[in-house]
Amino acid sequence: MAQRAVSSLQTRKVHPAIGLEITGLNLSGPLDRSTIDAIKELWRNYLVLVFPNQSLTEAQQIAFSEHFGNLDITIEDDKKSSKNPEVLRIANVDERGQKLHVNHPIQRYFSTLTALWHTDGSYRAVPSYASMLHALEVTPEGGETCFANAIAAYEALPDDIKRQLEGKHMVHAYEFTRHFENRLPPLSEEERHQSPPATHPVVRTHADRRKSLYISGNVAYYVGGMPLEEGKQLHKYLLDWVTQPQFVYQHRWSVGDVVLWDNRPTLHRVLPYDPSHRRALQRTELKGTEIPRA
Ligand code: OGA
Ligand code: MN
Repeated sequence: MAQRAVSSLQTRKVHPAIGLEITGLNLSGPLDRSTIDAIKELWRNYLVLVFPNQSLTEAQQIAFSEHFGNLDITIEDDKKSSKNPEVLRIANVDERGQKLHVNHPIQRYFSTLTALWHTDGSYRAVPSYASMLHALEVTPEGGETCFANAIAAYEALPDDIKRQLEGKHMVHAYEFTRHFENRLPPLSEEERHQSPPATHPVVRTHADRRKSLYISGNVAYYVGGMPLEEGKQLHKYLLDWVTQPQFVYQHRWSVGDVVLWDNRPTLHRVLPYDPSHRRALQRTELKGTEIPRA
């Protein structure tokens, strides 16, 4: 039976600037329209939603995600679930439950690139709209995921910086991951070919006219129209700005958590954890739309 839910939605702010916890819902079953509309409204305001104590199969996570848009199938083949290409396994255990070696390339990727502030898929011409993680196994310490509100951060910027950013673009390229992380092997020709650089405005204007910083700490550093070093300094300034504690919620995972975030006005990263500890989350991603040229 469909949940009735809006009246039974219980919410709690998890940070003054970003994130809302929602309890009183079972996401594994059907949800009625008014519940979904209520969730969407809260999501617009809080950018990151946390649903504790859920238990979703891959199919159930896909079904819940589809309430919010079309699912994306990414090129990250090494992380795809064998059952559903829409599901990525953000996990250092394989599908049979076997722990991966601490030096396994997938673990290296999680410990390096994912640990740098980023917004999913910004290296694509059409980046991701949203991502959803569901925790299956969690680390006893470390491994928290941090989320930054890039709308609040933009609004709080000094006016002269806001003026400086008008009309500015950054180049986002998967290849640039190697600029930030030289412990990873170089990209293959094929990988390079699969992900040509993309250019995005540094300030995104959203449908409701709010503006946010749109930057990444793992695939972008070059600001168009500026000398390289000056652009890098601006990029570092903005990254340090947006990730100040007053804009950042740090999520400590419990098994069963579902976290849904809008990638367009937020950045995220994982905090370090002992790679000998098991960690497994299942992820779905929603397709974005073209970013209008600023
Ligand atoms: C992701 C991601 C963070 C984490 O799945 O896009 O950045 O804590 N994950 O694993
Ligand atoms: Mn990510």
